[in-house]
Amino acid sequence: MKKNDDVLNNGILKDDILTDLRIIEKEKVQKIRADFPFFKNNPEIVYLDNAATTQKPYILLEKEKEFLEKYYSNVNRSASKFSFHTTELLDKSRDIISKFINSNFNEIFFTYNATYGLNYLALFLAYNYLKENDEVILTQMEHHSNLLPFTYLSKIFNFKIKIWKLNNNLELDLNDLEKLITPKTKVISITYMSNVLGVVNNIESISNIVKDKGIMLLIDAAQGIVHNEIDTKKIDIDFLVFSAHKLYGPTGLGVVYINKKHFKNLQTKTPAFAGGGIVSKVNIDENLIDIGLLGFPYYFEPGTPAISQIYSFSHVINYLENINYYDYKTYEIKLTKYLVNKLQELGFIELYGYDRNEVSRNRFGIVPFNVKNVHSHDVSTVLDNYGIVIRVGHHCAQLINKKLNVDSTCRVSLAFYNISNEIDTLIQALYQVKKIFKL
Ligand code: ALA
Repeated sequence: MKKNDDVLNNGILKDDILTDLRIIEKEKVQKIRADFPFFKNNPEIVYLDNAATTQKPYILLEKEKEFLEKYYSNVNRSASKFSFHTTELLDKSRDIISKFINSNFNEIFFTYNATYGLNYLALFLAYNYLKENDEVILTQMEHHSNLLPFTYLSKIFNFKIKIWKLNNNLELDLNDLEKLITPKTKVISITYMSNVLGVVNNIESISNIVKDKGIMLLIDAAQGIVHNEIDTKKIDIDFLVFSAHKLYGPTGLGVVYINKKHFKNLQTKTPAFAGGGIVSKVNIDENLIDIGLLGFPYYFEPGTPAISQIYSFSHVINYLENINYYDYKTYEIKLTKYLVNKLQELGFIELYGYDRNEVSRNRFGIVPFNVKNVHSHDVSTVLDNYGIVIRVGHHCAQLINKKLNVDSTCRVSLAFYNISNEIDTLIQALYQVKKIFKL
């Protein structure tokens, strides 16, 4: 077994983790940190809230500025050479972003964020595919952004919601999925990676289970794509959603992938949102309005898109590709292992999931915990005094809390630019929590 596997799988080389981390930090991670102005400007801040949003590389700021200074105009509508060029830049950006998930140019469309993308898809499915008594499977680890749109719409369109529950390892058991599926199941909508538990779902196996049954698979990749590669040509996925701001990109931009197999008969389907930019013609004949819709992806993009954000995000994607971003996954796993070991050593921490499961490729990066007998908000107040930024509360995924039997947790979420020193600072601050609350 390779040394790395030992560290990741069973902790035999536990004491070596820090040495290992320090080498990677020196050789690679410190260079990455230098690409993010946040760290230079905030040397006293320990930013461990990356599941909420991530810091931005210089390239994002430079490209946003470049675009607004040199190329700005509206797109897809004007006949001027200048605007054609801006449209070309947007098309090129769309191409770069679509390739990041190995999809085609016309298989992605843009929205405000992942939440809007999920709402769009839930509406689109409700309008066009879901009939009375059909079933939609969601899971107990879903973010509200996936859970709530389908739940609200189920009441209007009279389809049913079924919840795939967590097992005692705080994971989703594939056998339970098989039991939930019936001939009425039309959609399964599931997170790629839990924003609370750090659990990475096996979407390949889920796809294999559902694809022959004619069930559509929707993946909320808002967290998943930040830590795990996605190849839409390798895994049969119908729909996938992510947001730029969690992937080191700008706010106000979400990406939705729709598998090209759904392009058939698009003209007969009802778009969830309508407006300028999605139609080829609108005629009035007596009192009837006759509408001709554009093809993909414009069909899904009414209104002016987030032009400069799409442009700058494509350059962030180029940056990530250039540094072989997903190679840092092993580093993130080791960093999580270091964090979990340190939290366990404290003796006054309740860990969720990591108390009974090893850190692994399928559970890392995001670590929920509580300080025993201290409310998470009090913990946060003490950590805040040390400049430590984490998230506390229910993390917009309250069904998980029912399983954990708590009303809130502290959540540390790591990114590839975090370092072991930052974890040491967190641990020191947690000792202060112990002291202040006389634990
Ligand atoms: N969904 C984001 C989080 O988990 C905001 O914090």
